[in-house]
Amino acid sequence: MNMNYEEAQAKLKEFGQEHVLKYWEELSPKEKSDLILQINRTDFSVCSAKPGQEERGSFAPLKAMQLAEIMLRSNEFLQLGKETIKRGKVGAVMLAGGMGTRLGWSGPKGTYNIGLNNDVFIFQRQIENLLENVKLTDSWIPLYIMTSEKNNNETVSFLKQHDYFGYNPDYVTFFMQDMAPACDREGKVYMESKAAIATSPNGNGGWFKSMETSNLIPDIHRRGIEWLNVFAVDNVLQRIADPYFIGAVLSSGKACGAKVVRKNAPDEKVGVICLEDGRPSIVEYYELTDEMRDAVDETGSPAYSFGVILNYLFNVGDLEKTMDKRLPLHVVEKKIPYIDENGNPVKPETPNGYKFEQLVLDMIHTFDSCLPYEVVREREFAPVKNATGIDSVESAQSICLKNGIML
Ligand code: UTP
Repeated sequence: MNMNYEEAQAKLKEFGQEHVLKYWEELSPKEKSDLILQINRTDFSVCSAKPGQEERGSFAPLKAMQLAEIMLRSNEFLQLGKETIKRGKVGAVMLAGGMGTRLGWSGPKGTYNIGLNNDVFIFQRQIENLLENVKLTDSWIPLYIMTSEKNNNETVSFLKQHDYFGYNPDYVTFFMQDMAPACDREGKVYMESKAAIATSPNGNGGWFKSMETSNLIPDIHRRGIEWLNVFAVDNVLQRIADPYFIGAVLSSGKACGAKVVRKNAPDEKVGVICLEDGRPSIVEYYELTDEMRDAVDETGSPAYSFGVILNYLFNVGDLEKTMDKRLPLHVVEKKIPYIDENGNPVKPETPNGYKFEQLVLDMIHTFDSCLPYEVVREREFAPVKNATGIDSVESAQSICLKNGIML
């Protein structure tokens, strides 16, 4: 829907954000139309949210399907998973719209090279992993890649330039996620320049909604896709469209599945899968009470011991049904560059406001049931979040080498 100046003004007034048009008279025609477009697309209702603990329900443990059972039933899962992929019912969605600020790399995270003697780009690792299951099933698996307006062009041209690392371009679709405004502590949006509102990607929770905005739902139906495997760009050992996982979730009859790893310490900083008011959910590490940390199941093992690794299998029909449920808004303190009241750019040294995000892990709670599916951490989990230390380029390199990946 197009918007004119008066409508933009009225929208800003409704949310107390009239300062966005302060420099209107100084802008070029192109800047003016871009700013109107930005006002049209920005959800200013988030600006009134404040940081603080979400209201949570009452937690209970949720049993995971563990390695012993998976090994015992591996043939059954493999056959069912392969069959489902071969019939074209599985698509993959790569979440690559994040800013990757902790890594400190200027380009999209997927363009980072983790190689030691060879070029091994993060995108390449993902595609090579997916290709294994393409070969195993002799079927191309549609791959949707979510970018944001901050990294879309670079991502698309990088993958083109590298011939999609051997993937069939007919099966690769890019779409952009929505953006959220960045605000000061009083809820006023920051201006990044005289002509643009400071915005950032709105978190990875809006991926299906953004697929809808990008008109991809008809494409999903046209291809006959019934299950979407959603995963983070930064786990370089990610198994994508893993037939064992798909088979296990389908045979469980659960609405969705989440790959999980056993926590390596009771206080490890990972979100743990559980039940909240009887529905699947994820409790963040800082929300775990001492009592929950010490709770054990009937075998004496810790009851809250499986952490999520951002690899989920969702049913398309269920996603459509739950799409309009509003996910919780996470308010994060950040350093937000802006222009001051005299129009001069400021780069703050300390956090000066909030960014707003919705998270894919909250989607789990919108479903009636979920299968937590255990995977071996050393084989499937090597996230690249930081340059050094925990979950870093260094740790990921070392795990890749242990798995025989040439770097
Ligand atoms: P993270 O929460 O680790 O964020 O994303 P990030 O942007 O990669 O890194 P930091 O926090 O700025 O250092 C987990 C996954 O979700 C994707 C990321 O690209 C990554 O695959 N993501 C995150 C999005 O696709 N969109 C977002 O808005 C945020």
